[in-house]
Amino acid sequence: MNKTKIELNNKSILVTGSPGFIGANLVLRLLSEMQEGTIVSLDNMSDYYDPKLKEYRLELINMAAENSGANHIFVKGSIADKSLLNELFSTYRFDIVVNLAAQAGVRYSIEHPDVYIESNILGFYNILEACRNNPVEHLVYASSSSVYGGNKKIPFSIDDKVDCPVSLYAATKKSDELLAHSYSKLYNIPSTGLRFFTVYGPAGRPDMFYFNATNMLTKGKSIKIFNYGNCKRDFTYIDDIIEGVYRVMQGAPPKENGEDGLPIPPYSVYNIGGGTPENLLDFISTLQEELVRAAILPAEYDFASHRELVAMQPGDVPVTYADCKTLEDDYGFRPKTGIREGLRKFAEWYSEYYK
Ligand SMILES: NC(=O)c1ccc[n+]([C@@H]2O[C@H](COP(=O)([O-])OP(=O)(O)OC[C@H]3O[C@@H](n4cnc5c(N)ncnc54)[C@H](O)[C@@H]3O)[C@@H](O)[C@H]2O)c1
Repeated sequence: MNKTKIELNNKSILVTGSPGFIGANLVLRLLSEMQEGTIVSLDNMSDYYDPKLKEYRLELINMAAENSGANHIFVKGSIADKSLLNELFSTYRFDIVVNLAAQAGVRYSIEHPDVYIESNILGFYNILEACRNNPVEHLVYASSSSVYGGNKKIPFSIDDKVDCPVSLYAATKKSDELLAHSYSKLYNIPSTGLRFFTVYGPAGRPDMFYFNATNMLTKGKSIKIFNYGNCKRDFTYIDDIIEGVYRVMQGAPPKENGEDGLPIPPYSVYNIGGGTPENLLDFISTLQEELVRAAILPAEYDFASHRELVAMQPGDVPVTYADCKTLEDDYGFRPKTGIREGLRKFAEWYSEYYK
């Protein structure tokens, strides 16, 4: 698909969900690329996981901002707060919006549904309304591989049916894609949804398997391996996700009219995933080897006695596998970092951060 080229330099950019994991890394990339312009990070600093990690990432952003020609402003607040969004949009006149703020996590949505509706549905609706009232060049937003639910056909393609979510989290992400489509059609807002596949890396999310497993193993506790290890995940290294988001930001779906004279919705959705799903047991073996290499665990660590094979959890799916062909065709990029390389960087960071 042809794209409308967008120059990011000297622009006003809103990144919600920074200093979350992906948001913070995106802002760091923008600060290193932009010579001029303004980047606003908006985050409610939720305590879903240790907010100290978000403060740490914010420190990295503040340091990077000192050496960047672009300005960075952090605003603590919620995308569910419509008046705050209106104020920010009218003050900063955003050219590009990247909505990464969300309540993440599949299992947490079973116990805490309210916050998913507040942040992922109401919050995203507020973002769409703000883009409707203050036209932007491009709205990019996070969807998720979880929209594929228990689909059997692999790899998962953006042309596949995604009507059967198996968690509330997945349902909110699919709803975001539907809401974005209607706003793109009605108000000609160029929007691109990105279905991220299990993102990992340094300073990642402690609720995710590789990070939580590392925490448990360092405490001498056992880790639970779901579906008796018969799970495959398409893990995607953070730098690959950021490269993908950065490229997508610079190419918006074009505004065109159809035969009826009305706008064809400038709307796209892409997968961003490693494209090489790993068996969970192989992934854990590599993680353990890298934790030993980084001296986080002793060489003689008895792994076999620290793993417990358990049944599948509600909301989980047995396999995720991204078909990234359209991303490659339209943006000339596909993720390339291997699991060992990515886990090595995670282990080295973990050792430094917690030493
Ligand atoms: N990390 C992954 O593997 C993955 C996979 C698929 C999709 N995603 C999506 O990518 C996005 C970023 O994920 P992440 O891994 O960086 O998660 P994260 O939890 O580190 O970042 C999300 C940030 O959003 C903030 N937030 C939550 N509700 C908010 C609200 N109402 N207003 C303002 N800020 C709010 C949180 O405080 C957090 O800092 C999310 O939308 C997530 O659903 C992530």
